[in-house]
Amino acid sequence: MTRTLRFLITAGPTREAIDPVRFLSNRSSGKMGFALAQAAAEAGHEVTLIAGPVSLATPEGVRRVDVVSAQEMYEAVADAAPASDAAILAAAVADYRPASTALHKIKKSSGPVTLELERTRDILGSMRGEFGYRGVLAGFAAETESVLANALGKLERKGCDFLVANDVSGTATGFDSEDNEVTVLFPDREPLPLPRASKREIARELVRLAAGMARARGEGMG
Ligand code: CTP
Repeated sequence: MTRTLRFLITAGPTREAIDPVRFLSNRSSGKMGFALAQAAAEAGHEVTLIAGPVSLATPEGVRRVDVVSAQEMYEAVADAAPASDAAILAAAVADYRPASTALHKIKKSSGPVTLELERTRDILGSMRGEFGYRGVLAGFAAETESVLANALGKLERKGCDFLVANDVSGTATGFDSEDNEVTVLFPDREPLPLPRASKREIARELVRLAAGMARARGEGMG
């Protein structure tokens, strides 16, 4: 019998508050991450889905934790990581947030305004070090140029077992589309191109890949 694995998946954008009515965010729809959570649940795994603000229904059988900011996502992932066998971090986490959040709505004035930003914490990059996570680790790299070279750098820097490189310069795949076309990069094998397909199909492939690696290492719940 195949063993059940515990999957941790992140999805969607984060929102970084400027004041009570404004925020910084990005175009992530969450569809890829939700498709991953659904594929993992359908394959019989236990799934924790940590989701930024998106308008998507929770896939059946998935435990969903809603977060808003990068810091909240960081804390939720830190909590869930130790009890996970495979983690696929697909969220488009904001890299910067306003250095301070105004308590009240900021009023306009005649001159230009400068917004000071500070770095958020890198969640994927914290898994191996800060969180002490030992399971299978996968990330995404949304790039608009030098896609494979940039993605390879991320794979190594963040200690991933594989990284899913996504060219978001086109409109047919990537942000908010139903389809995706990606290349999976590994530290020690040739890249695996996954030709254009629905996010659902791509998700199934990626879950199979992560589960195969986790089982090969003897992870799972017996
Ligand atoms: N990621 C994360 N936490 C962040 C930023 C990114 O966990 N604060 C994760 C994403 O979920 C994704 C991967 O890192 O799996 C790559 O995200 P990306 O923003 O493309 O990478 P960065 O390292 O932020 O590189 P850059 O912004 O320089 O392209």
